[in-house]
Amino acid sequence: MSTGDSESANHFTKLDQDFVVGRYKEGKSESDFRQYDAKATPHVAEFYRTNHKNQTVDYVLRKEKQYFGLRRGKRSVWEAAEYLNTLVDDSDPDTDLSQVEHLLQTSEAIRKDGHPRWMVLVGFIHDLGKCLCLYGEPQWGVVGDTFPVGCAWSDRVVFPEYFSGNPDANVAQYQTKYGIYEPNCGLENIHMSFGHDGYIAQVMKPYLSDEALYMIRFHSFYAWHRHGAYQYLENEKDREMLKWVKKFNPYDLYSKGNSKPDLAHLKPYYDDLFAEFLPEKPSW
Ligand SMILES: [Fe+2]
Ligand SMILES: [Fe+2]
Repeated sequence: MSTGDSESANHFTKLDQDFVVGRYKEGKSESDFRQYDAKATPHVAEFYRTNHKNQTVDYVLRKEKQYFGLRRGKRSVWEAAEYLNTLVDDSDPDTDLSQVEHLLQTSEAIRKDGHPRWMVLVGFIHDLGKCLCLYGEPQWGVVGDTFPVGCAWSDRVVFPEYFSGNPDANVAQYQTKYGIYEPNCGLENIHMSFGHDGYIAQVMKPYLSDEALYMIRFHSFYAWHRHGAYQYLENEKDREMLKWVKKFNPYDLYSKGNSKPDLAHLKPYYDDLFAEFLPEKPSW
């Protein structure tokens, strides 16, 4: 570990790997694909037990208030990426890629497929919100699948059985189909479980298009973009944006394992890309 930071940071890369392993099994059928097995992957199960227990409406509102005002200073994208790099766990035998290299793999895969420049940018920045770990947030509050809070949990959320441990299970209003929301009110009006997606979307909100922001904001909302849950909360815009979220997802999942990107060689392209869309130092 190259930083003396918190316990959660220490376990970050290892668990992140496990999520990828859990999702990425070539040859698996669509239905098998995201079947986590509590016995086969006990620390993923334990992660979600803690996540589902603690992601309450109160918790989410508190974290949104704490972070969505962007009062953590100004940083360039490179600075943010360098900061995230301190999360690399060099005791992990499975990868010698830094966080920045992983971001570059995602964005380079998008670039190679000829997608628009804004989508290449999304590839690079979509996980920068993981710096929440360095702010001291626990891992269960930063990574993993996201889901709406304040309404009934779908059984298409990963490990739905663990929601029984969430105090919101005892709040009648939160346990109806629509909960605190109106039918088809739109996902932008929903409070999602707190994590890196929502935070980085907030940082990027003034600068990017809806398509880009949906890719960023909902990339971990698998129950929706992969399993078709929560359609009764969707509005017309969400239905339109879903195809972009789906377009992005394979790059998030499958770009690990491609060859190690050459940062020095790529830097000028990314300097131009960041300058095209973003101010030199966005607020975090
Ligand atoms: Fe992510
Ligand atoms: Fe990612």
